Amino acid sequence: MNSVVVRPAVPADAARLVKLRRKLFAETQFMLLDPSEFRSTAKDEAQRIRLFDAKANALILVAQDGEVLVGTLVASSNELLRLAHSAVLALGIGQSHWGKGIGSRMIAEAVAWSRQNGIRRLELTVHTTNLRAIAVYLRAGFQVEGLRRASLVIDGRYVDEYLMAIIEDG
Ligand SMILES: CC(C)(COP(=O)(O)OP(=O)(O)OC[C@H]1O[C@@H](n2cnc3c(N)ncnc32)[C@H](O)[C@@H]1OP(=O)(O)O)[C@@H](O)C(=O)NCCC(=O)NCCS
Repeated sequence: MNSVVVRPAVPADAARLVKLRRKLFAETQFMLLDPSEFRSTAKDEAQRIRLFDAKANALILVAQDGEVLVGTLVASSNELLRLAHSAVLALGIGQSHWGKGIGSRMIAEAVAWSRQNGIRRLELTVHTTNLRAIAVYLRAGFQVEGLRRASLVIDGRYVDEYLMAIIEDG
């Protein structure tokens, strides 16, 4: 989908990003937050974008179609010295835009960003039933490192996740 631009988030995206995140948490259970837990305001979001922007080891990307934000990817590192080479990633695309290559483009951008910023390891967790996401991550070079059994509870059911990671071998 060529009309969709993938770029770093800027504070002016805050209100639209809140809207997108609220929509993502409502339309899929594959994201971490239950919709009832999402209470960020545009002000909170602008602050988060500025905070991430100030750090070399944190990234917020958005995918924009016209005036609408349709996807977001977040990657951030732990500040501890022994973990600072590693970042954790989360990705969500609005359902109307699934299957158009946007998720794959955002992952490729995140991998390129991690390499440019000396982050050797990018990791994520994904529900074992989320075959679309797993396919995207495998194609981008991520490998399954392990199974996290009953790591989540959703609507009273325990859910298993895979831990996946990509390592820069340079
Ligand atoms: C998972 C997600 C990020 C993927 O983004 P996307 O933009 O839809 O992904 P892409 O279009 O780049 O690629 C999807 C690929 O998965 C494939 N795919 C779709 N359904 C599939 C399935 N059930 N099994 C295997 N592969 C599948 C598609 O064929 C496509 O591959 P192709 O490009 O070779 O045709 C997006 O669907 C999403 O946000 N889902 C809800 C939230 C979520 O799951 N986030 C990830 C949490 S870890």
